[in-house]
Amino acid sequence: MSTRQDEEAPVRGLEGVIAAETSVSYVDGIHGRLLYQGYDIHDLADALSFSETVFLLWHGRLPSPAEGAGFRAELVAEMRLPSQVVEMLRLMPPNSHPMAVLRTAVSMLASFDPDVDDIRPEANWRKAKRLVAQVPTIIADLHRVRSGQPLLSPDPNFGIAANFLYMLRGTPPNQLEGRAMEVLMVLLADHELNASTFTARVIASTLSDMHSALAGALGALKGPLHGGANQRVMEMILDIPDLQTVQAYIVGMLENRKRIMGFGHRVYRTEDPRTRHLRDYSEQLCASANQQNLHDIAERIESTVMDAKGIYPNVDFYSATVQHALGIPPEYFTAVFAAARTAGWIAHIMEQYADNRLIRPTSRYTGPMGLPFEPRAA
Ligand code: COA
Repeated sequence: MSTRQDEEAPVRGLEGVIAAETSVSYVDGIHGRLLYQGYDIHDLADALSFSETVFLLWHGRLPSPAEGAGFRAELVAEMRLPSQVVEMLRLMPPNSHPMAVLRTAVSMLASFDPDVDDIRPEANWRKAKRLVAQVPTIIADLHRVRSGQPLLSPDPNFGIAANFLYMLRGTPPNQLEGRAMEVLMVLLADHELNASTFTARVIASTLSDMHSALAGALGALKGPLHGGANQRVMEMILDIPDLQTVQAYIVGMLENRKRIMGFGHRVYRTEDPRTRHLRDYSEQLCASANQQNLHDIAERIESTVMDAKGIYPNVDFYSATVQHALGIPPEYFTAVFAAARTAGWIAHIMEQYADNRLIRPTSRYTGPMGLPFEPRAA
């Protein structure tokens, strides 16, 4: 008797499969729309700080000004790390990728968290605040350790985004940089059921703890087909010597059937709504950081890929030049994406816990059956 698994072909890459219900964010790939808890990203991008966005994603409503200020202060107060985690940053081999170190650090933080295995909502919200605050510190501290510079404490006058830049670079951001960092983190904070968010929800669905779900999500984000693309975008831009070379470089890659990092998307069939904000900040930041040529090369790559393949840039493309102009080294780009996305991962983990059923799909077996087993001589 044949079963359903024998007859039905799996949906490759689960494309178009609805695997969860969520009110955290909504992506309309046909019309290029992104909503956070019902609000259009175009209305939020320049209007909210990162901590206000975290509040919105977690609580489903905008904070009042007093709530927003209080929440920001609560988060900044949680930015410190246990000294053992800082020690681990020093012990990791200098060539280990920041995403690997971040994944290890989040895993290690679990053992120092007094609420680690308590998954009741009150304990989970305490962990959520600690994690969204600690992840940026891990990234900043790792860079300071690796570049032989002293570690800096968060400044209570800044929010999470500005503190991250300050603690990484040692200099507070100017007005344009501060706003750009907030916008970058707001835009990257959530994106429906992407691969890393799905990973986080699968882990939460086993009723495992929040740190485990986050460590798994970090592993998924690290891949070049997901969050790992932004670092490779910058490496490509830096590899192109000038504007005149762009066309031949990109066409050569496409002829060799290589993927252009930072282009294409599983869901969007038109421009990703986050692109326009990042393109705009890339232009402004590159001009003020004397890196206009990098923005020009990026724009030329965009038009070349569009002409050759009709493929739009995704969020990783201009986030690369934005981060570069902010003084963030390329190997940290994916980790910065993770710092922002921690907000969304946590919102989805909490949603999963609140209405949980174990996520356990099935597969279509393609191997042999009924092989004769010959007992082997000892
Ligand atoms: N460069 C060149 N061609 C691309 C491309 C890219 N970045 N992205 C998609 N394509 C092409 C594929 O080669 C394929 O063409 P074909 O049908 O002629 O073989 C077609 O577009 C569909 O691609 P597919 O891999 O099936 O789409 P997907 O939905 O599985 O993959 C991504 C989506 C994001 C993984 C894919 O676009 C990609 O690899 N992009 C580069 C990595 C990246 O920027 N990731 C960050 C995502 S936010």
